[in-house]
Amino acid sequence: MAHSLATPLTAEPSARLTGTIDVPGDKSISHRALIFGALAVGETRITGLLEGADVLATAEAMRRLGADVERHGVGTWSVHGVGVGGLNEPDQPLDFGNSGTGARLVMGLVAGHPITATFIGDASLSRRPMSRVIAPLSDMGATFHTRDGGRLPLTLIGARRAMPIAYPLPVASAQVKSAVLLAGLNAPGQTTVIEATPTRDHTERMLRAFGAEIQVEAGPRGLLAIRLTGEPELRPCPITVPGDPSSAAFPVVAALLTPGSEIVVRGIMLNPHRSGLYTTLMEMGGDIEVMNQREQGGEPVADLRVRSSRLRGVEVPPDRAASMIDEYPVLAIAAAFADGETRMLGIQELRVKESDRIAATASGLRANGIKVRETEDGMIVEGRSGEVAGAGHVATHMDHRIAMSFLVMGLAAQKPVTVDDASMIATSFPDFLPLMQGLGATFSGEGQ
Ligand code: S3P
Repeated sequence: MAHSLATPLTAEPSARLTGTIDVPGDKSISHRALIFGALAVGETRITGLLEGADVLATAEAMRRLGADVERHGVGTWSVHGVGVGGLNEPDQPLDFGNSGTGARLVMGLVAGHPITATFIGDASLSRRPMSRVIAPLSDMGATFHTRDGGRLPLTLIGARRAMPIAYPLPVASAQVKSAVLLAGLNAPGQTTVIEATPTRDHTERMLRAFGAEIQVEAGPRGLLAIRLTGEPELRPCPITVPGDPSSAAFPVVAALLTPGSEIVVRGIMLNPHRSGLYTTLMEMGGDIEVMNQREQGGEPVADLRVRSSRLRGVEVPPDRAASMIDEYPVLAIAAAFADGETRMLGIQELRVKESDRIAATASGLRANGIKVRETEDGMIVEGRSGEVAGAGHVATHMDHRIAMSFLVMGLAAQKPVTVDDASMIATSFPDFLPLMQGLGATFSGEGQ
């Protein structure tokens, strides 16, 4: 997928933010809806699909693997699947652009089928480690040819007959868990993944909804064993994608930090494995009211009313990391405005995301007058009690969440904040700018 030219963008100190918004569909659930739709026999209808570049890359990959994927209107899609075991060999490389989730989940899918596929991605994805999925998928019978260090581009030769395995996850990663379960779908018998730290469980929930047999057992020392019975016949299941808590984080933090603000964000999924940021912001003194709690597409959903608040620094417990793994950059922005220090430790996984998010966040904070101590597995941010200088130029390293986090900072800082490239925001939140402008945010520059 071609990376569009870098588009610098500046967020200007803004007046209060007000209004009611809906955030886009959840990225994790959108990828999975397309993938499971491709494996079910018959038509899966999806509404509220996130139409960001990452998810569109997965839709294209599903087409190349033989599914019939169609868009009917904004967020409304259908997938006619080929059945477990029925994927075609793609005649061209599968291009996942910036998306680690798409690449790793589809590697699991292909590994369980007797087909060969080449995986490519942009410069950021080509730097990210793939050995975490290559190891278990090789145990299941797949073969990989990779660039040095187990990176993209790579060619995957799927197993002739996939073998079920029992796999203790060496890192807390829903992507690795999901890759193993997806390969296990086309393996006879039981595939088991053992988690020491629970991670997002959208794959397990959706597999169940599509008719697979999957059990989750709690073991000693908090271990969780997830057992999938292979070779199910998956039935199509209509999916309504709930709002993405990772995207909602940006308007929520912007409203907390910009004085006089009051916004309502509707339809945010609050799956307990995804809601760690909201717990943390409330502990910091954020005025966030949870309203209208309900269930949508098998996930807990609510509306949030957010009012600007004076925040205090906290220590984020390391065992909360998996439930807010993508939200640390924007939490660090909230921490910069808080009273006192915020300690974020046990987050070494941030170093292998779309960018090294500990390094990128720390250098962006410093460029805006914030003191931060970086450790191998975390960062400690010294809050400025609402008085953040701004005026920094921030390098985003092809990372959408670094770009959005520092634009949020610029809305509430004393001087504007510029990011070097806002184009990657389209990977996860294509309507970020108009939606924030609708609340009263001001941006200037080419990316506007
Ligand atoms: C995701 C899992 C997380 C997260 C990513 C989406 C998923 O990655 O960072 O944005 O949909 O499974 P890891 O599993 O590598 O932590």
